[in-house]
Amino acid sequence: MSRSLLWHISCFLGLLPFWIQCTSSANSCAVWHEVADCSHLKLTQIPDDLPANITVLNLTHNQLRKLPPANFTRYSQLTILDAGFNSISKLEPELCQKLPLLGILNFQHNELYQLSDKTFIFCRNLTELHLRYNLIHKIQNNPFKGLKNLIKLDLSHNGLSSTKLGTQLQLENLQELLLSNNKIHVLKREELDFLGNSSLKKLELSSNQIKEIQGAPSSSKSY
Ligand SMILES: *[C@@H]1O[C@H](CO)[C@@H](O)[C@H](O)[C@H]1NC(C)=O
Ligand SMILES: *[C@@H]1O[C@H](CO)[C@@H](O)[C@H](O)[C@H]1NC(C)=O
Ligand SMILES: *[C@@H]1O[C@H](CO)[C@@H](O)[C@H](O)[C@H]1NC(C)=O
Ligand SMILES: *[C@@H]1O[C@H](CO)[C@@H](O)[C@H](O)[C@H]1NC(C)=O
Ligand SMILES: *[C@@H]1O[C@H](CO)[C@@H](O)[C@H](O)[C@H]1NC(C)=O
Repeated sequence: MSRSLLWHISCFLGLLPFWIQCTSSANSCAVWHEVADCSHLKLTQIPDDLPANITVLNLTHNQLRKLPPANFTRYSQLTILDAGFNSISKLEPELCQKLPLLGILNFQHNELYQLSDKTFIFCRNLTELHLRYNLIHKIQNNPFKGLKNLIKLDLSHNGLSSTKLGTQLQLENLQELLLSNNKIHVLKREELDFLGNSSLKKLELSSNQIKEIQGAPSSSKSY
């Protein structure tokens, strides 16, 4: 944070010896090694002139409404994409297809309301998926099934009424499932069956007004 702020100030004052790099980019993203910080720039479009070898792209706090996969073709080396705090309502499967190395996808504070079985099928390398503060009310079928490497899934602050995120066994490597601040009123044991033998270490359910717990937890597992 302070480093990027310093960079912005240095860019502004032209203090850096290689200041040309700051000004050559019309969108004024700050590029530091392979990290591009394009946060807080009122962007409505994905910058198309960043170095093609960046591995981190920060698009937070802008005015983006979509993330067209084609606009990411250039950035195929990305391992972290932070698109939080925008107004994006749709996530297309082809985005992950363009970003085969993506490990962390942060989509917090957006307007996502629907996930399909296809949404994440190409996100095979994902270890963290942040979807907090979106408008997801219902999970149908198995949108997370392909995420075999996923370790952390944050679905807090949505409108979910159940912990059931799928009908089949999946997410075998999941360690953290965050479901706080949803509308889960009844906790049913079978609604966690999709996790099967996963190595879950943390299940967060706070601020859900749970009134009823159905089905005794098995002795081998603690929530
Ligand atoms: C995606 O790229 C196209 C073609 O360069 C451009 O017209 C469009 O505005 C871009 N969209 C976004 C959201 O960046
Ligand atoms: C990434 O690209 C920039 C400019 O396009 C170049 O200066 C830099 O050396 C490249 N970094 C690596 C690790 O290849
Ligand atoms: C992106 O920038 C925001 C705002 O400066 C910061 O809070 C966030 O941690 C950054 N994301 C990444 C992946 O560095
Ligand atoms: C990404 O996934 C591919 C195929 O699923 C795999 O070969 C590769 O090692 C993974 N890369 C990383 C960085 O995890
Ligand atoms: C879960 O693990 C137990 C003990 O390792 C094993 O017997 C059982 O078959 C596993 N169940 C599934 C659905 O993988």
